[in-house]
Amino acid sequence: ASAQETVKIGLILPMTGPFASTGRQIEAAAKLYMQQKGDTVAGKKIQLIVKDDTGTADVTKRLAQELIVNDKIAVMAGFGLTPLALAPAPLATQAKVPAVVMAAATATITEASPYIVRTSFTLPQATVPMAEWAAQNGIKKVATLVSDYGPGIDAEKAFTSAFTAKGGQVENLRVPLANPDFSPFLQKVADAKPDALFVFVPSGIGAQFMKQFVERGLDKSGIKLIGPGDVTDDDLLNNMGDVALGAITTQHYSAAHDSPENKAFVEAFKKANNGMRPNFMAVGGYDDMHLIYEGLKKTNGAGGQALIDAMKGMSWTSPRGPVSIDPQTRDIIQNIYVRKVERKDGELYNVEFATIPNVKDPVKAAK
Ligand code: DHB
Repeated sequence: ASAQETVKIGLILPMTGPFASTGRQIEAAAKLYMQQKGDTVAGKKIQLIVKDDTGTADVTKRLAQELIVNDKIAVMAGFGLTPLALAPAPLATQAKVPAVVMAAATATITEASPYIVRTSFTLPQATVPMAEWAAQNGIKKVATLVSDYGPGIDAEKAFTSAFTAKGGQVENLRVPLANPDFSPFLQKVADAKPDALFVFVPSGIGAQFMKQFVERGLDKSGIKLIGPGDVTDDDLLNNMGDVALGAITTQHYSAAHDSPENKAFVEAFKKANNGMRPNFMAVGGYDDMHLIYEGLKKTNGAGGQALIDAMKGMSWTSPRGPVSIDPQTRDIIQNIYVRKVERKDGELYNVEFATIPNVKDPVKAAK
């Protein structure tokens, strides 16, 4: 194919640093999708260009600029954390290049550019069902402990307002995102003795949290662990040990999701990646490639405004269940599942036991 017939996708991810698990999961999922569907769409060759932003927003922005100007990408994707999604947003607007967010989950991100579309989730979307479950299951007093930046603050606010509206009591604690030491916060929680501890830490950090939870003796305190599913993400869950058993979380994806689409996805993903289990980041990356491929089919390979417009309203069956792109907000509408960590065939899984269908981001739905 000649240069004009190649459609380039710039995939910017944290491949090194503390959030490398997010990059590793998403890259593997994007490559799996291309392996399964081929690298030709609408008669054009698809080229995936993967760049490591090391989890640093200035680097994400510089890489996005280079990909737009030098490589002439049709679309950019990835964006492992909220600051990494926000930094290149003005470039997407200026260059009219769609930016598909596979990971970052602060509700407002899609408002940073009309060229942003998202296949991950929002923290309020995942969290409100957690507050409802807690209120309906005898939990009256909760301490929240969240990473102190966009998604953590979203989770804290969404939980607190939904749970107090049902008569619950909440104490809010925030821990720094970088190099977090949970122990002083966990000591406070041990002293306050709430019915449950609600935790948000980004994907990749859950194991560190669980270790300190045990070290402070909280696993034997009777304080129940709850939260959005980031803390028990499938990349790390199986190595967390018995401390994770019984944790109740709400989220859009579990590797244990019982559907033919997911069984095929998990099996193929593990086979292509030395047995690595896909987590919710992987499913965001896989679905994002689907959105790009199907969008390009509609535009005959064109990017820009045509591509972002083609993506709006698209619906499909994901490994996570039925999904669609909200044409108004460019966020994903999806089921949120209530799950409990259980041991199944010797491995730890988030086992889904209830479904809240077709959940929209509640922050934007309320506007
Ligand atoms: C974000 C990052 C994560 O790893 C996660 O699990 C949720 C949100 C974020 O920075 O937006």
